[in-house]
Amino acid sequence: MNQEDLFKKLTAHCKEYGYVFQSSEIYDGLSAVYDYGQYGAELKNNIRKYWWDAMVLLHDEIVGIDSAIFMHPTVWKASGHVDAFNDPLIDNKDSKKRYRADVLIEEYIEKQQEKINKEVAKAARRFGDKFDEEMFRQTNKRVIDIAEKTGIIKKRFVDASENGNLEEIRQIIIDCDIADPVSGSRNWTDVRQFNLMFDTKLGSVSEDASKIYLRPETAQGIFINYMNVQKSGRMKLPFGIAQVGKAFRNEIVARQFIFRMREFEQMEMQYFVRPGEEGEWYEHWKEKRMRWHKALGFEESKYRYHDHDKLAHYAKAATDIEFLFPFGFKEVEGIHSRTDYDLSQHQKYCGRKLQYFDTELNKSYVPYIVETSIGLDRMFLAIIAASWEEEKIRKENGSEDERVVLRLPPSLAPVKLAIFPLVKKDGLPEISAKIRDDLRFDFSCQYEEKDSIGRRYRRQDAIGTPFCITVDHQTKDDDTVTIRHRDTMEQERVPVKALREIIGEKVSMKKMLQSL
Ligand code: GAP
Repeated sequence: MNQEDLFKKLTAHCKEYGYVFQSSEIYDGLSAVYDYGQYGAELKNNIRKYWWDAMVLLHDEIVGIDSAIFMHPTVWKASGHVDAFNDPLIDNKDSKKRYRADVLIEEYIEKQQEKINKEVAKAARRFGDKFDEEMFRQTNKRVIDIAEKTGIIKKRFVDASENGNLEEIRQIIIDCDIADPVSGSRNWTDVRQFNLMFDTKLGSVSEDASKIYLRPETAQGIFINYMNVQKSGRMKLPFGIAQVGKAFRNEIVARQFIFRMREFEQMEMQYFVRPGEEGEWYEHWKEKRMRWHKALGFEESKYRYHDHDKLAHYAKAATDIEFLFPFGFKEVEGIHSRTDYDLSQHQKYCGRKLQYFDTELNKSYVPYIVETSIGLDRMFLAIIAASWEEEKIRKENGSEDERVVLRLPPSLAPVKLAIFPLVKKDGLPEISAKIRDDLRFDFSCQYEEKDSIGRRYRRQDAIGTPFCITVDHQTKDDDTVTIRHRDTMEQERVPVKALREIIGEKVSMKKMLQSL
């Protein structure tokens, strides 16, 4: 199946099985805004918990807060967002479509990289065991040409972005012969800056009302509470403040389902460190965050780092953890060494000292910050994409069948256990309901009695439920049930009284957290 079809199927699956709906669908939808359904909300809660526990529960020196979405408007002046939180946009005069100019160039660079990789793969096939990749990359004329040209474009792009040179950004698009991905037209407008913050008014009378912003990142709520938390918690450096919450960005190009939304959720942690130690902590968090992703158990080759060439206005070093989505490797999390930029800026704008007195060094200074910032919705999409599978199976009678299965990590699955009476009579529904009532305090359980057992299994596979248990007539004699495993479809007979332990061990988040 091609990747575009796969992505369409994932989106359709999310809707059909109550994971994600288009917001305001009955009014034809609101672009790039989504609602989470009954299973989506549970999966989101579980991902949030996995992150929160990894940060707050497992670290003595990290605490969690919940700051307001609205903040004093000066926060955004100090942070640089009012002046610099812009995307360069460009319109195509023929198709009337609007694009992010930087994304068009980044995609072009990525395509050149793919061309090189294809040449390398072709040569590897041709030369077999004798293939020396390093040598090939250094000597093959076509590869050298593409790499050199791309290097020049990359350098021009980084310089133009750093200097805010919009004319040069447009010129790069022209020089690279970049066409509108939809219409193929190369008839481009000038490049303009577009601020991504949504604003609104605080106050009921319009003359008195002041303009405030919906936060475009949760991080600023942490910076402005740095002193409150440090003092009230008597925190010693290094220490971290974690937060999960909504953020809002008026994205120019909002495509790819929940990958780029106008209202989304971030999970951010700001780690305050001694100046001079930020490099070490940056490496520490880079490595630790990758471990968190890999502990989910998906293929390791689906993750990679992407170090930034083009740094945000506050950053000294930055890397993305990228995940292989059906539309390619894309960022799910950023790790940023933010220097003392944020606290120094707030100190300047609020006129109060935001320093830390270091008793070991006997001096005060503004701490440096290393940030980890992950999008909850993007993580959700990565997990769904890695879990979804259309699988051919062989039935007991030898015929072929197909099933769609969501191989979610059991600890994240919205429903852990589905309980089915084999038939809707002979007291089996009552026994099943009793088991459900007993286990619902430990796991999220679902009781289902409609349709054949096979259909009930299929539905739970599509939801991602790791275990189904069936109550049959034998249960009445010996108090045992069959437990069916989602991934292998194997069934085993176990005593009812052992269910809590068997399932509890498999769906617990503890193992994942212990491996971090
Ligand atoms: N405080 C730093 C910061 O906000 P960012 O790279 O702009 O950094 C961090 O955002 C993460 O937030 C991204 O890695 C991504 O997962 C998520 N994110 C950003 N914009 C998003 C959007 N429009 N829709 C969904 N997730 C988004």
